[in-house]
Amino acid sequence: MKNFNEKLAEYIERTEANLKKYNAMSEDMLPQKSLIDAMNYSLEAGGKRVRPALVYGFCEALGGDLRSADAPAAAIEMIHTFSLIHDDLPAMDDDDFRRGKPSCHKAFGEAVAILAGDALCMLPFEVIADDEKLTPEQKVKIVSCLAKGAGREGMGGGQVIDIENEERSDVDEENLRNMYRCKTGQLIAISCVMGCICAGASDLMLGIAAEYGFKLGLAFQIIDDILDVTSTTEELGKPVGSDEEENKTTFVTLYGVEKAQQIADDVTAQALSCLDNIEHSTFLRELTNMLLKRKK
Ligand code: IPE
Ligand code: IPE
Ligand code: MG
Ligand code: MG
Ligand code: MG
Repeated sequence: MKNFNEKLAEYIERTEANLKKYNAMSEDMLPQKSLIDAMNYSLEAGGKRVRPALVYGFCEALGGDLRSADAPAAAIEMIHTFSLIHDDLPAMDDDDFRRGKPSCHKAFGEAVAILAGDALCMLPFEVIADDEKLTPEQKVKIVSCLAKGAGREGMGGGQVIDIENEERSDVDEENLRNMYRCKTGQLIAISCVMGCICAGASDLMLGIAAEYGFKLGLAFQIIDDILDVTSTTEELGKPVGSDEEENKTTFVTLYGVEKAQQIADDVTAQALSCLDNIEHSTFLRELTNMLLKRKK
């Protein structure tokens, strides 16, 4: 049996091979080569591939076939990468460095970066619709997850709260928890839920997976806030100090690093207890703990 690191490496390798395959360029797309190059530039820049690992991890924990998770795992990484490209734009967080390389808009210009984000938001739906492993019922459920996770109730909604908070001085914990649930929690929660859908799990299990995902997402974003003040740009592969520069209120500005870490520890413990409902949860538990201790 594979250990945790071997499993994670397998999931990442599958994800990266599929991303390459799904965004391959055919001859007739030569006129839009710069768009496809920009998409691949950001997709291939690396990243932890946490969300695909959750899709595969839940699928396998619940006895599903990994092949049925290939399309949703790649799809969620595309949506996530789209969110990062747009997040870095001058109109948003205005960050010039991402995943250890110049941000997409620095490498390709703003217009192409906006369009690469747009295309990475849409390609997932094509990939799911055209997949040969998922049943029509699974596809409909997955499309619904992706649309909600990325849109007004999810990442997009959270990002607008985040941007508007920059102008406010009264941002409290409740506001932050809601914003994190939308901007970060939703994409993580749907990763877990889509893994369950691939395995044909019950609605009860989908609910448990969503609850776990929202808790993990909250802890994940709090750690991201902490790393923004404690890490280095070299280690993170993205600029540190970005939150302060953009006048963001975060768990760190509200409570300081130590208490923010304590909250992340507590929320992680709550996430782990959701996994008590899953028999084969070793990989998911180790992933949860690894994300709490991560350095990037
Ligand atoms: C960064 O996500 C954005 C947040 C939601 C905090 P990740 O930390 O997963 O970024 P990559 O994919 O590893 O680059
Ligand atoms: C993540 O928040 C939001 C996204 C949905 C992309 P951040 O703005 O803190 O993410 P980083 O720190 O730039 O990766
Ligand atoms: Mg942001
Ligand atoms: Mg940002
Ligand atoms: Mg951040």
